[in-house]
This record gives sequence, C-alpha cells and structure tokens, in this order.
Amino acid sequence: MEGRNRDRLRLQCDLFSPEGEEEFMSDVASFQLGDQQLEMPVVTGSEGERGVDISRLRAETGVITLDPGYANTGSCQSDITFIDGEKGILRYRGYPIEELAQKSTFLEVAYLLLYGELPTQDVFDEFKDEICHHTMIHESIKWVYRGLPKAAHPMAVCAAVVGALATYYPEDLEPGDSGQVRMSVHRLLAKFPTIAAYSYKYSIGQPFMYPVNRLDYASNFLHMMFATPCEEYEIPQEVSQALDLLLILHADHEQNCSTSTVRMVGSSLSNLFASISAGIGALWGSLHGGANQAVIEMLEQIALEDGSAEAFVSKTKDKKSGIRLMGFGHRVYRNYDPRAKILKSACSSVLDALGVQERLLEIAMNLEEIALKDEYFVSRKLYPNVDFYSGLIYRAIGIPVNMFTVLFALGRLPGWMAHWKEMHQDPAFKIGRPRQIYVGPEERSYVPMENR
Ligand code: ACO
Repeated sequence: MEGRNRDRLRLQCDLFSPEGEEEFMSDVASFQLGDQQLEMPVVTGSEGERGVDISRLRAETGVITLDPGYANTGSCQSDITFIDGEKGILRYRGYPIEELAQKSTFLEVAYLLLYGELPTQDVFDEFKDEICHHTMIHESIKWVYRGLPKAAHPMAVCAAVVGALATYYPEDLEPGDSGQVRMSVHRLLAKFPTIAAYSYKYSIGQPFMYPVNRLDYASNFLHMMFATPCEEYEIPQEVSQALDLLLILHADHEQNCSTSTVRMVGSSLSNLFASISAGIGALWGSLHGGANQAVIEMLEQIALEDGSAEAFVSKTKDKKSGIRLMGFGHRVYRNYDPRAKILKSACSSVLDALGVQERLLEIAMNLEEIALKDEYFVSRKLYPNVDFYSGLIYRAIGIPVNMFTVLFALGRLPGWMAHWKEMHQDPAFKIGRPRQIYVGPEERSYVPMENR
C-alpha cells in the first residue's frame, strides 16, 4: 500500500431508532470524506441484521468500497436462508435446519426453498410426480459423456452435461418467463441425479442405468449408481435415509461462493443451465465443496503415516506448511456449524447401522478434540464445518471419493435455483458487476520490439 493515497473515510453509523417505529425501520449512517458528508440508509433484516445501503456512494462521492472476498458486502436482500454464524444458527425459510433434518425430506425441502412455503399434501404430490417424471435425459446426451475422457473428474462432467442441457431445451431458456423457468427448474432437479450417476457409471465403464420413477429421490440416485443390468441393488433404508439427510443439510447456505456464482452468471440474463453449470465449477474448489473430498484424503494420509492427529494439527498451524485442517473453519460460522453437529451424530448411527468399523472416524474425532482445545483454532474461532463428517458418511454408504462434491452439488441444486429465481424477481435486479481499484502502470507508450 506504500505510496498509495489513503485518505480517511469516516463512517459514522449512528443507528437511531425513532420511537414507535416498527421492526423493519431503516436507520441512517453518515459518511464523511474530506468535507463531503453523505447520509445513507441502513437496511434492517427480519432477524435484526443491518447493512448500510451504499448504492449511491460512487455517484455522490466518486469513491467505491473495497472489500476483498466480499466479506463485508451484502449483494442482495433475500428471504430464503438465515444464518447466524456467531450462534451457529441455520434456517431455511425460517425453519431450523435441525427440525427439517429430523422431520422433512429432501424433495419437500427443495419445494420449500423454491416456492417459499411447505407444501400441502396435494401440492407436494403434484410436485413430486412432476420431478419423478422428468428423470430421463435425452439419449443423445450419452454421446456428450462418450466424448470425454473416462478419468475426467465427475464435477467437470456434470458441469459439461448441465451446460449442454441448454442445447436440448432452447424453447425454455427465457429467465423472464415464469412458465419456462418452472419447467427448467423441475427438469434440472429431476435430471441431475441421472446426470450425476451417469458420470460415475461412465468413469467405471459400466452401462448407464435408467432411472426408476417409483423410487424416492435418494433411492433412485442410489439405484442408478449401484445397480447394473445384471444385478439389482437392494437399497438399505439406512443408506437412502442418510443420503436424504445429507441432501437436506446441503440444500442452501445463502450467498456462498457457488450460489453467488449462480446469481452472477444469471444476472446477465444467461439461462438457468449455464448458471448452474458455472455454480458446479465454483463448488468444485477445495476451499468450498471440494473440501469434503479433501477431508477424506487428509484422513487417509494421516492413517497412512502414523495416525497421529496431534502431529497433523501442528502442521496445520504452521503457515509455511501450506496445509490447512480441511473441514475446519468457515467464512460465516464462528461457532460449530449446525450441519456438522447433525452429521457428527448421524455419522456414528449410520456406521453402527451398517456395521462399518471406520478408522478414519476415530482419527477425525481425535483431530476435532485436539483442535477444539488448541489456542490457534480457539482464538480464530475455527470449528468443524459441514464437510468434516459428510465424507465419512458418503464413504460408509459406498460413494467413491471423487463423487463427494457431486453429491454436494446435488444437495445444493434447489438452493442455487431458488436464488436464481429470487434474483430475477427482485425489483432491485441489476447485472452483477463489481468495480476495482486499479493499481497497475499509469499510461505509457508502446515500445517497438527492437527497442525493448
Ligand atoms: N486450518 C488452519 N488454519 C486455518 C483454517 C484451517 N482449516 N481455516 C482458517 N485458518 C486460519 C487462516 O490461516 C487465518 O489465519 P491468520 O489470521 O493467522 O492469517 C485465519 O484462520 C482466518 O482464515 P481465512 O482464510 O482468512 O478465513 P476465511 O473466512 O477467508 O476462509 C475457509 C474460510 C476458506 C473455509 C477456511 O477456513 C478454510 O480454508 N478452511 C479449510 C477448507 C474447508 O474446510 N472448506 C469448506 C468450507 S465449508 C463449505 O464451503 C461448504
């Protein structure tokens, strides 16, 4: 920053609440830049979160805000998911994740996220029926798979096939047409398990298994993953229930990296399939959805070496090692991720029910115990996140490691689509286009090659 101007921008956030005003009042924050003073509205959410609406800042002062990683930036107002990272609270449309995990199903949660309310029986039956009858993908899409290397990561395959769906449904791509959007949303929710399972079948050289529409959502996916034309896959109830639970827990998480990507791509009025394909790409990274794969690889590595959780935790504290304790830490949670809490207990029950002895679970619990007492993790408020235990359940139910993140995408799909829809219906809708502070060379003249 040396040599660069650092003027002082004074942000006075005197949040007065005029008496008698109701819950949703807007307060005012005043900015001062040099002699210039500006008042801006403070928007208050239904759970009391506050944000200064700076949308007039540049027009009125010529300056912008700089917020790498958008850690302090609200990109929209949303009524889909509420998180209180300090208290470890997560609610979809107001319903606590713990209740949904215990009482609901993934398809019902998908409906809730997409349409805002829990469905009545009739409405749900119709929704389910529609999702269960759009599960097949066009036969020629199989050639898209065949054009890709067998060793391709299934996230890359899924992103390609989801993107390719836009070529099959050109009549339903208009983001402003609610009928077309509904059709695309239902198609994608119905077809994604098929697309995901086919990416696995293709990688191991087995024939694609057609969906069976009488099965529930999770069971149908398991059937397409594990049955073959020669042998049925008997789906243990514990396995389909565990998968359904995992999908519920991953279904939405407000403005995370992949959801923001889906919104950003959709904000150019690009179609749903292109937006979701980009979201899959964003989720793939190891700092986001890819962490569930990275956790298992980390646990396997520890088991392979000497099994010492203590030695590994020490390495993760040394910045020079470049190693992080995967499945720990979260941009929003500064407390135990409520999803990790549910998964930790589900992990033990699923493993018990399936009679799986898992050395990696022991290592994970050891790592957690050590880290939660360690000053480094305590002072930085680093707790287990959703990825810490999810991989162990996936592993126990037979999901190969490179499919873990695909399962995350399958769960997150309704959340992505709910945000995409919400954004297009928002009266404040605008193309997403952040600014920057340019720090490159000032104007200079082109130098011919021979003079450089
Ligand atoms: N292991 C060791 N140190 C960590 C870890 C970790 N897992 N996470 C954060 N830290 C340290 C950082 O080195 C930094 O230390 P410093 O203040 O001394 O420089 C401090 O904690 C803050 O970390 P940031 O990276 O600034 O936090 P941020 O909010 O940007 O990152 C993230 C959050 C990416 C999740 C981070 O905690 C991480 O890399 N975790 C491991 C990967 C992971 O599990 N990702 C899944 C997230 S959940 C999801 O996407 C579904």
